[in-house]
Amino acid sequence: MSSPEHSVFVCSATGFQGGAVARRAREIGWNVHATTRDLTSQPAMAMKSIGVHLNECDWDNLAVLRDTIQGCDKLFLCLTINWDDLSCELRQCRDILKIAKEAGVKQVVSSTTLGVSMLDSEIGVYPGSFMEKHMINKKAIEQAVEDCGFDHFTFLRPTFFMANFIEPKVSRYAEIRDKRSWTTSMTPETQLPIVDHEDIAKFAMSAFQDPVAFHGHAISLASDQLRVQEILDLLAEAAGQPGSVRAYFLTDEEVEAQASTSGFSDSHKVLRYASEYVDLEKLRATVQLTSFREYLERHLEAVRLTFPHP
Ligand SMILES: NC(=O)c1ccc[n+]([C@@H]2O[C@H](COP(=O)([O-])OP(=O)(O)OC[C@H]3O[C@@H](n4cnc5c(N)ncnc54)[C@H](OP(=O)(O)O)[C@@H]3O)[C@@H](O)[C@H]2O)c1
Repeated sequence: MSSPEHSVFVCSATGFQGGAVARRAREIGWNVHATTRDLTSQPAMAMKSIGVHLNECDWDNLAVLRDTIQGCDKLFLCLTINWDDLSCELRQCRDILKIAKEAGVKQVVSSTTLGVSMLDSEIGVYPGSFMEKHMINKKAIEQAVEDCGFDHFTFLRPTFFMANFIEPKVSRYAEIRDKRSWTTSMTPETQLPIVDHEDIAKFAMSAFQDPVAFHGHAISLASDQLRVQEILDLLAEAAGQPGSVRAYFLTDEEVEAQASTSGFSDSHKVLRYASEYVDLEKLRATVQLTSFREYLERHLEAVRLTFPHP
């Protein structure tokens, strides 16, 4: 049984994963400390309304970060890619870890990416590609956590988010929303593991509540696994427009031709192999996983907003 006096600093509490962790921590009566760059935003107000101690700052504002992390014994570390400066995430990570250590934080749960599990394998990440840089960055974040000497740490490595298929995150995959198609370097046979951010939070809270059992573990996280067209079919069905979203599979030659561009196609080639790195049965033994169908039912309003009837 968890003791009610824990205080956790949740990075990105106004975002998807962090928000889910913050809500679950508040549900069991823990203090949650967090920052936002805009106290008047809807997610910030939602956090305030459940009693999260929220301060306004950018993660470069070390003084406010110090004030906010003070008194916390746990840290959920979840940073964001800065697309203009890939070095920013690791720098901010090191700042937050240093402040957390000085403040007396004892346990860190860090959410990175499934890519870290894949990085050292022969999976054909294009050298110099965005995906390679991104994976190296996330791996460096894990190393920084380990090097800090916290009593306990756990790494969560989530796969592709279910949230990417609907508003607001679908804007990164706008083709799905705008053209009702997904041109991908995966294949028709690829089993794509996808994750519900609420399931990430379930694992984070399991680790926070049992630091010893989860200490040193790196967990590749998914909630469900389906072929790309099956995912799009479920999406279209939930939107009330069956069969309206189609996958287009690039040939290896087409992927190769795009490898030097800034597009995602070369990056997504690694997703062909993502399923080799997750063990859904093992994950199910720890928490109840959410199927994509269940996820879409839970987010029906966002699905319909993303795919209005023509
Ligand atoms: N999408 C995927 O498929 C996927 C898969 C694996 C891993 N990931 C990783 O997931 C992470 C993002 O998690 P998420 O999607 O849950 O977050 P999200 O919903 O995109 O939210 C971003 C959060 O970061 C905060 N933030 C961003 N820049 C900030 C800054 N400079 N200073 C302070 N706060 C800042 C935002 O706070 P305010 O706006 O309130 O300030 C917000 O809480 C990324 O690192 C990504 O690599 C994503």
